[in-house]
Amino acid sequence: MKVTVVGAGNVGATCADVLAYREVASEIVLVDIKEGLAEGKALDIWQKAPIDLYDSRTIGATNDYSKSANSDVVVITSGLPRKPGMSRDDLIGTNAGIVKSVTENVIKYSPEAIIIVVSNPLDVMTYQAHLTSKLPRTKVFGMAGILDTARYRAFLAEALNISPKDIQAMLLGGHGDTMVPLPRYTTVAGIPVTELIDKDKLNAILERTKVGGGELVKLMGTSAWYAPGSAAAQMVEAIVKDQRRVFPVCIRLDGEYGIKDCYLGVPVVLGKNGIEKVIELDLNPEERILLESSRKAVREVMDVLENLA
Ligand code: NAI
Ligand code: 2OP
Repeated sequence: MKVTVVGAGNVGATCADVLAYREVASEIVLVDIKEGLAEGKALDIWQKAPIDLYDSRTIGATNDYSKSANSDVVVITSGLPRKPGMSRDDLIGTNAGIVKSVTENVIKYSPEAIIIVVSNPLDVMTYQAHLTSKLPRTKVFGMAGILDTARYRAFLAEALNISPKDIQAMLLGGHGDTMVPLPRYTTVAGIPVTELIDKDKLNAILERTKVGGGELVKLMGTSAWYAPGSAAAQMVEAIVKDQRRVFPVCIRLDGEYGIKDCYLGVPVVLGKNGIEKVIELDLNPEERILLESSRKAVREVMDVLENLA
């Protein structure tokens, strides 16, 4: 199996490193526009192989997509990250151009690849990758929900003083402050979370989750990479190993949840064909209202993208 990661910055290099360490693919190609960066990081990851004992081969390339030819999966992380004071949506103009040109190159050399978008604003960059690649929605989708639920699960684990391994959670909507964490679908080893934590504490965690990306931008001056890189790698692994894992993933809704033509995070089954199935939850009225406001927020930015073209 061959996987390409475009963008050898914080998220892309972390993703490639996790893919190599976990031996998800035999060949991992890193591509970046900045001269030497992808080659250097790929070489560094390869030189870690004798220490960490993996044999995935990592190769870097400066803007040379021939090296990525016939990839099974491509992860797009190229683009500007957020700086303090910026929302993800502020990145649209620059990142739309980058995602468009990158997708053109990806498709030219790997027309059969499944594309996972990471660049922000996530939901709308996934739309951009679809517009350029013309791939069906099952083969071009975005990573955000695994990261957002991971933040939610990590905060819960800390508050309950238990292992994050035992927390299962689901979340819907766009990758922004309107995301919709679902306490009704959150369990600790099968026990509804509402039986283990009081309402105020849970609400505080839900609010912290919604602005979890911003919390890290404030601390570091740029956005997060360890959890985002691992989250993207987990999606690649589910596809490459045909694991049929259930994750929240950003996909264009075609009528599910009563929503059409909008890119939003929903639970899906991820396997060798990409998105094998969209899972439709039976939402209560309050959850429907929250999802609708997330849809509106994403649709507004999709409109901005359409007007850029
Ligand atoms: P970074 O600045 O560390 O890396 C981005 C890389 O993209 C740079 O190395 C840059 O040279 C490269 N690049 C720019 N234009 C390119 C082009 N045309 N072709 C190839 N490479 C190009 O940024 P970082 O932290 O890795 O973030 C990358 C993107 O991922 C940002 O848009 C960020 O907002 C987004 N992100 C999304 C998350 C999500 O949950 N979906 C989570 C974290 C970050
Ligand atoms: C994050 O959530 C900024 O999307 C990025 O960390």
